[in-house]
Amino acid sequence: MTVEDLLAWLPPGSPEQALARQVDFDRLPAHVAIIMDGNGRWAGQRRLPRVEGHRAGIESVRAVVETSARLGIGVLTLYAFSVENWKRPRTEINTLMMLLKRYLRLELDTLLSNDIRFQVIGRPEDLRPDVQEELRAAMTRTEANQGMRFNIALNYGGRAEIVDAVRRLIDAGVPGDEIDERRFGEYLYTAGQPDPDLLIRTSGEMRISNFLLWQIAYAEIWVTDTLWPDFRRRDLLEAIVAYQKRDRRYGGITPARAATL
Ligand code: IPE
Ligand code: IPE
Ligand code: MG
Repeated sequence: MTVEDLLAWLPPGSPEQALARQVDFDRLPAHVAIIMDGNGRWAGQRRLPRVEGHRAGIESVRAVVETSARLGIGVLTLYAFSVENWKRPRTEINTLMMLLKRYLRLELDTLLSNDIRFQVIGRPEDLRPDVQEELRAAMTRTEANQGMRFNIALNYGGRAEIVDAVRRLIDAGVPGDEIDERRFGEYLYTAGQPDPDLLIRTSGEMRISNFLLWQIAYAEIWVTDTLWPDFRRRDLLEAIVAYQKRDRRYGGITPARAATL
């Protein structure tokens, strides 16, 4: 996939195409992570049940997954269900699980044709057996793919992930003096993957909600008021263009500033 292919895929003269032209393809975020929020509010604005917001949100997932792969993003992580989301009504949880299964079944061909490798991060072992089965099938079918890695965070908690990593370090008998940040990262769900460069949250909420706590140490955060079911290619491109204008200092100072000292 080249930049020209991507531009040709977008409608000629569209805002998306104009935004795509502003993207510096040599400085793409290696990992984009998204807190998909606002489905309930989207439905509420339309006087629809909350689950209709989740249903509509699937279209946004489709758009973001395919666009990210075509852009050449290395890793995309979508936050779909947190360990705290079990507090929701049983019927809402059941609908979310049903929609997840349906998404996987309908989108498997798109994942395969875009060379996307699908993976679950979280504690999927606590999900319903039929959901686990569908997830396993999608992971197995896509495991040889070499393109974008698509992580779906399911029954995911950032603190739970850190606790799981500590348990696995202990089980592996790793001595304390051998543990450093690099080694610790090998026991996280995202082992071997770059940390997110760009963290997107929809629906305007200025919080992390227990997402990728370790990995987002230096992520650039971009929050939009757009509700998740309204999020499209254009919003993703806008986020990437904004990200590329950020001055990432990692605690240091920029070369321009250093030159004035
Ligand atoms: C995000 O939308 C989807 C999940 C957390 C599963 P919400 O359902 O949280 O929508 P709001 O935040 O209530 O609008
Ligand atoms: C975060 O959204 C979790 C997911 C997107 C899956 P929530 O809607 O659960 O977060 P809070 O409750 O607003 O913090
Ligand atoms: Mg929410």
